This record gives sequence, C-alpha cells and structure tokens, in this order.
Amino acid sequence: MRKKIVAGNWKMFNNLEESKELINGILEKLKNEKVNCDVIICPPYTSLSESAGLLKGSVVKLGAQNMHAEDKGAFTGEISSSMLKSAGCEYVILGHSERRTIFNESDDDINKKVKKAFSAGLKPIFCFGETLSERESGITNEVVKRQVTEGLKDIPESDLVNLVVAYEPVWAIGTGKTATPEQAEEVHSFVRSLIKELYSETAAENIVIQYGGSVKPENAADLLSRKNIDGALVGGACLKADSFIGIIKSA
Ligand code: PGA
Repeated sequence: MRKKIVAGNWKMFNNLEESKELINGILEKLKNEKVNCDVIICPPYTSLSESAGLLKGSVVKLGAQNMHAEDKGAFTGEISSSMLKSAGCEYVILGHSERRTIFNESDDDINKKVKKAFSAGLKPIFCFGETLSERESGITNEVVKRQVTEGLKDIPESDLVNLVVAYEPVWAIGTGKTATPEQAEEVHSFVRSLIKELYSETAAENIVIQYGGSVKPENAADLLSRKNIDGALVGGACLKADSFIGIIKSA
C-alpha cells in the first residue's frame, strides 16, 4: 500500500511573519486530527530555516520549491542543495511548470537537478504535465512520456524510493479548472505503466504519483480515491490552514 502524500507549494507567498502564522495555524489544527498521510510544506527560501524550527517534532515535513544543479559557484541569486539541507529541508520540488515556462528550464536542466538532489540526500518532488494546447492536440501522453523519461534519465531504480512524482496539467494550475478524476487517473495510470517500462513492476507499484492543479477540499476526496492517485500537490489552497487541513483530511 502506498502512503498518500499531501504537499503544499507556497510559491512566492508569505514573508517570514506570515509564514510563522500559517505554520502555527496548521500545527494547531493538526493537533486534533489523526493524520494518515505524509504532509509536506514548501515555503519560500527566506522562511525555510525558521520553518524547520517550528516544525520540529511535528508530523509536517519541510521542502523547498527549487534549487540549482551546481554545488556552489558564481550563480548570483541561486540556492544550492547543501543550503537547503542545512536549512532543514527533506524535499525539493523540481520541474514545476512555472519553472519550465517562466524560467525556461529544460528537461535536461531538471534532470541535472534531480540527480543533484539525490546525491545531496534531498527527496525530489518531480513535476510534469501538458499545456492546454498539447492536451487539445491529443499529445498529452507523448509530452508526459518525454518529460518523465528525460527528467529521470540515468536515475537508478534504487533512488526511486526517495522520489515523489507529481502530474500537474498546466491548464489546471491556479486556474480553478481541476482535471476530472477520470482525466487525472488516466494519466497517472499511464505514468505508472511508463515507470514499469523504464524500471520494473515493483518500482511502478511503489512510486508515489501526486496530482496537482486546483486541488481544494471540495474535490480532493474524489481525486484521491482513484487507484493511481497517491496524493496532492497543492498551490492556492495550501495558503490557508483550513483548506490545507481539509485536503489532508481527505487523504
Ligand atoms: P494550484 O497550484 O493548486 O494553485 O493550482 C498547484 C501547483 O502549482 O503546484
């Protein structure tokens, strides 16, 4: 049985004070809940270290939203894997569609980051997904296959236990337009069969595939009840303790 994982991607929201307030709100509300899934929050870099302190001893784990593929160097404005580790991160989101489209990250760039994350002892939450025009052109599976195959190129099967993958159709992110559970399940099932092809049946059975794109407390239970949907990567709805907890409860 795969354990479900609910992760909150805070994006560029919440300064330090706001971050503390949100974390305290989440922890307070979680006290009264029996949590059956893994919970991760991914605040902005400037809040990571403080967040790690607040989360200590709780069920909530810490992740970052991106990192650079090099260990160190003259890369003004960038953050390395060891900086994230030392700030207390266990996870790092890589290949988010906003990184791919706004910051022009290629499959190859993302693959380098995934490799670096593993070697640094961070667990990647590796994202992929098609745009609306790709879906309408009927090439969803082709795009997803390319992103997953290239993104995981040369990653050994032994690393997959520390990998989370997230299917995030670009047209569903921040738009309020969720993929239907059927649409999501179809791609998740395709990705699981792709992992079987690239690795093995065991790897396919064990890999955690999250869905992301306008997940809310109202639609989470239906999505998360599908056979191949193992969790949620949440944007907008993770910025309020109540709605984030609502999704955790669904899982
Ligand atoms: P959303 O974002 O929940 O606001 O659609 C999801 C994501 O970008 O990970």
